Amino acid sequence: MTTESAIPEVIDFWRNHAYDGWLAKQDVPVHRGYYVEDARALERGWWSLRGCPAAVISLEGNRGIEHLHVLEIPPGETIPPFRMALEEIIYVFEGNGIASVWAEGQPKVTFEWQKHSFFRIPVNYYYELSNARGDQPAITFHVNLLPMAMGTNPSEDCFFNNPYVDVSQLYGNEAKFYSAAARPVRLSGQASFSSGARAMQHAANPGAVTPATEAASSPTGPMRWYGNFFPDLSVWDKLEVYGGAGRLTYGGGIFFPGSAFSTGLMVLPSRRYRAGHRHAAGVTIVGIQEAEGFVLMWREGGDYLVAPWREGAVFVPPYHWYHMHFNTGAVENRQLRIRAPRPGANPTADLERVIPFTKQDPWIRQKFEEELANNGLTSLMPEEGYTNPDFEWDAEWLKDD
Ligand SMILES: [Fe+2]
Repeated sequence: MTTESAIPEVIDFWRNHAYDGWLAKQDVPVHRGYYVEDARALERGWWSLRGCPAAVISLEGNRGIEHLHVLEIPPGETIPPFRMALEEIIYVFEGNGIASVWAEGQPKVTFEWQKHSFFRIPVNYYYELSNARGDQPAITFHVNLLPMAMGTNPSEDCFFNNPYVDVSQLYGNEAKFYSAAARPVRLSGQASFSSGARAMQHAANPGAVTPATEAASSPTGPMRWYGNFFPDLSVWDKLEVYGGAGRLTYGGGIFFPGSAFSTGLMVLPSRRYRAGHRHAAGVTIVGIQEAEGFVLMWREGGDYLVAPWREGAVFVPPYHWYHMHFNTGAVENRQLRIRAPRPGANPTADLERVIPFTKQDPWIRQKFEEELANNGLTSLMPEEGYTNPDFEWDAEWLKDD
């Protein structure tokens, strides 16, 4: 007869998540919480796995979903080649240099990157990063889905010691990998979240409004920019207005070939904000431009968590926490958004997903206007938007100055 004491202990890979076990073994500083104020300024320490100084960012809203880290490439140095059996997307916070990417036994593909570059490493391709400058470190920001993957397969060797590589990713039809040319595509198989807002290009000339584009007004699917290397997201101007009432802003989706990630830019004009909303976890938001502002996050019925917003800031709203983003500076606020695969980051059918301005806690408006006043600025939010539930939000208001 089996007694209780004879029952062997087994590991529950969810309660004792395999990713947490892997991370606990890494000799790298791990920064936890709900956000980081400036990922570039986090304490970094030598990470044996990568052979360079690094910092892991393990935020509450990314638990079980995305893994984030920053690497420091010392001046004039090349960090050791690395590969893992998961894709990785990389945004360059600081510096410029050269990347080489290759599959085992295949030729290297090399390209130059700079501050604000954004690119993807395919699954199990080696990559090597070199700092082209001799006077300052380069800092890169990396995102992969190791927590999600290890939630289904706890074997570390499957990810870090796996010989399989699909050479067609880099040497097949996508032979123009890492060229700077992106092209517009329409995604199929998903609903568009764009509203009846009049689409227009985000142009350097504020008077230039182009007609609605086919993609932005399409009921079948949103437009994305398809490519694998975006040299400078800070000057990326192929953006359109999107979002429903109270949620209007400029955006531009980026679609990497073969990627599980959905990424894109969101550009919030100065002295404005969008209505609060909530959704599933795993949306990583990165400040990629000098900015002034703040973020509010809160669990329903809970206290507000106020996070400062600036270049280098990273925040990930936890599962179904409401969140809002405020631009209290004199210039536009450009953010990179990196979403985990559906259904993880899928907006739900929750009717309370958006809080209309007419139902918003008055403290929020007060806080926004106080922060603006501290900067000698005033709000460009439409007064009627706070009182009239049927107020028609016009994309033109994004341009008012
Ligand atoms: Fe959101």
